[in-house]
Amino acid sequence: MRNLAWWQPAVIYEVYPRSFQDSNGDGIGDLDGIVQRLDYLVKLGVDAIWVAPIYRSPMADFGYDVADYCSVDPIFGTMRDFDRLLEEAHRRDLKLILDFVPNHSSDQHPWFIESRSSRENSKRDWYLWRDEPNNWMSNFGGSGWEWDERTKQYYYHSFLKEQPDLNWRNPEVRTAMYDALRFWLDKGVDGFRVDVMWLLIKDDQYRDNPPNPQYGLGQSSGNSFLPVYNSNRPEVHDLVAEMRALIDSYPGRVLIGEIYLPLKDLMTYYGQDLKGANLPFNFLLLQTPWNAQAVAQVISEYMGVLPPGAWPNWVLGNHDNARIATRVGVLQAAIAAMLLFTLPGTLTIYYGEEIGMTNVLIPPEDMQDPAEKNQPGIGMGRDPERSPMVWDRSITAGFTRGRPWLPLGEDHWTLNVEVEQGNEASVLNLYRRLIALRRAHSVLVVGVLRSLTVYGNLLSFERAADKERLLILLNFGNGPVQAATEAGIVITGTDSRRNMERVNNLVELQGSEGLVIAITP
Ligand code: NOJ
Ligand code: CA
Repeated sequence: MRNLAWWQPAVIYEVYPRSFQDSNGDGIGDLDGIVQRLDYLVKLGVDAIWVAPIYRSPMADFGYDVADYCSVDPIFGTMRDFDRLLEEAHRRDLKLILDFVPNHSSDQHPWFIESRSSRENSKRDWYLWRDEPNNWMSNFGGSGWEWDERTKQYYYHSFLKEQPDLNWRNPEVRTAMYDALRFWLDKGVDGFRVDVMWLLIKDDQYRDNPPNPQYGLGQSSGNSFLPVYNSNRPEVHDLVAEMRALIDSYPGRVLIGEIYLPLKDLMTYYGQDLKGANLPFNFLLLQTPWNAQAVAQVISEYMGVLPPGAWPNWVLGNHDNARIATRVGVLQAAIAAMLLFTLPGTLTIYYGEEIGMTNVLIPPEDMQDPAEKNQPGIGMGRDPERSPMVWDRSITAGFTRGRPWLPLGEDHWTLNVEVEQGNEASVLNLYRRLIALRRAHSVLVVGVLRSLTVYGNLLSFERAADKERLLILLNFGNGPVQAATEAGIVITGTDSRRNMERVNNLVELQGSEGLVIAITP
């Protein structure tokens, strides 16, 4: 453990700042709100927080449309509030990771305002302008090209038309964006999660994409072509390596990449000689059907293709995907958590996961997400997983004194931090126990993963190092199962009443139950 970087054994907690804690009653979470909850995060046991974008933004995509990369949006507070958040986090030994959004800016960014002002403007080439559109689509549906009446050309946007894509082939763009990284690194932030890293650079010939043979009714029109020429281009790795070199010129920082690609392509983002992203996000557990066989398969595939020396990572949720308790069900969410905290590598959890929050049904009049508004009714909306954090039993759940920007779940009276804190059997206390377990048993971080086995609904594997062997048993079914074990002692169960139980050669697990057993040496 001694030779590891801080982020290797770490549990990272994603804060979606609009939804975490409001401090001034406007119904939207803010930086002061995060400060108020740092002690909660310390008690939970996490090592770092990743805060989704807080920069000045018209909020067309809730902060993923940045109008100034070196600022704080007034909705979230001031630069002084940010400095205080960083200081208060560090005082508690919590690291702070920011979200970097390099692929596109806001259309209100001064760079784009200049760029669109005339074809001769010195920033014209900072964005992607063409006389004719090709067939590249927006990830939020529809053509990715927007006509500009004044200068009579089209510009490309991978997301909303309010999010024009920057031209990363232009060296001035690179310099400006790297200056923004330095601005925050100089302040002392501990790293970045890089938004849509795999989309950063596009084909210089603007070739048309081939049609997607899998495309069908009910899918986003963004899927109608295969993104061959506007994503995962070979040149992207030079950019990632440049970012990494910059990050590495500051001690102790981490570079995380948001990348949705098949496993083999994902691995290339570790970079030549591991000089790419420290952690290309591994979203396999978000995408895999929830059964023992499928989960075992992705674990072994992932561990099997990791380049030598590359550090693994796992994720159960984020602000773009259905919450784990909704995806797999409230009962199975407990073994999902046990799985997560017993896998090797860096782990990222999403706010609210630790109390078992589920997706919230959003009435049409409360809908906020442009991804839903652009293509209603086909499940593109991300509001359901962005509902406010539920802190207590009060009418607005301790999130705000005002009206929350998104509705609270109907279960907020019973499912909240205040209630769960006092309940030994709660999801919150399971998370606390699992995080503490990981801290106490370095074998969960550095041990090998072996003997991965599936028997019906039972998934089992071992984590082993010199002096310690832990057996992990997870029941993916609803009914009881018998599992073979060696003599040992239960050190954590999803049902805490089983802690300290002695086992011999057979152990019974109830439906959706998980056990971590320390094998007696
Ligand atoms: C990925 C972010 O996680 C998502 O929320 C956003 O809409 C897109 N990138 C565009 O920035
Ligand atoms: Ca606020």
